[in-house]
Amino acid sequence: MSDSFPSVRSYVIRAARMSDAQKKAYTALSPKWVLPVDGTPVDFRKLFPEAEKCIVEIGFGMGDATRQMAKEHPEWGILGVEVHKPGVGKLLWWINQVSLKNLFIIEHDAVEVFSTILPRGSVDGIHIWFPDPWPKKRHHKRRLIQADFTGLLREVLKPGGYIHAATDWEPYANHILDVFNETPGLKNRYELWADKPDYRPDTKFEHRGIEARRIIRDIIFEKE
Ligand SMILES: C[S@@+](CC[C@H](N)C(=O)[O-])C[C@H]1O[C@@H](n2cnc3c(N)ncnc32)[C@H](O)[C@@H]1O
Repeated sequence: MSDSFPSVRSYVIRAARMSDAQKKAYTALSPKWVLPVDGTPVDFRKLFPEAEKCIVEIGFGMGDATRQMAKEHPEWGILGVEVHKPGVGKLLWWINQVSLKNLFIIEHDAVEVFSTILPRGSVDGIHIWFPDPWPKKRHHKRRLIQADFTGLLREVLKPGGYIHAATDWEPYANHILDVFNETPGLKNRYELWADKPDYRPDTKFEHRGIEARRIIRDIIFEKE
């Protein structure tokens, strides 16, 4: 990581067991679909020569929404970034199962990925769906969406590119809105909350929020 970029530990590595299918998919398919983080900049044109848009999804969890989006939008090139190994195994299993060709994975901390190997001005859209809300005040510093990181996301976007966050945790939704509003060069595509776009499938964590009767907020800002 560049020395100057503040590190945020926005995740805990959960000791979840991988199923045999996930382990098998991980071993067989990661050489082809998981990109190394070795300082080599990601070359989106080489990864997705035909893609109309390049999208990065941060924190795809078990990848259900990601594979659905990749299947429904074969014209997009999607790069999923996640630290949870069983989720990577599960998404690899799906890549094979439904023969996806427009989806690559990076198994690494997104903060480091954005600050080291994603070229400036290279991405059309960044999705951050249901990031961990870290509800306790003493943990707020662990939230992924913070001013420094949002400034970095903006740099990696092409002009007109967007950041789309979604959350079921109202205080985090307000925090995200404030941080995006305070980031120079980003503007809200909506007056306040965004309508849920058709391209965003329901996610596992969204279902949990709905079951707990929480309101789901989508927030979409674009680079000016
Ligand atoms: C609450 S889950 C949401 C998963 C999925 N988007 C959904 O809606 O079902 C948040 C995910 O973000 C991942 N995550 C958190 N911080 C991350 C980081 N810095 N880099 C990559 N992934 C991260 C976690 O491992 C976790 O799987």
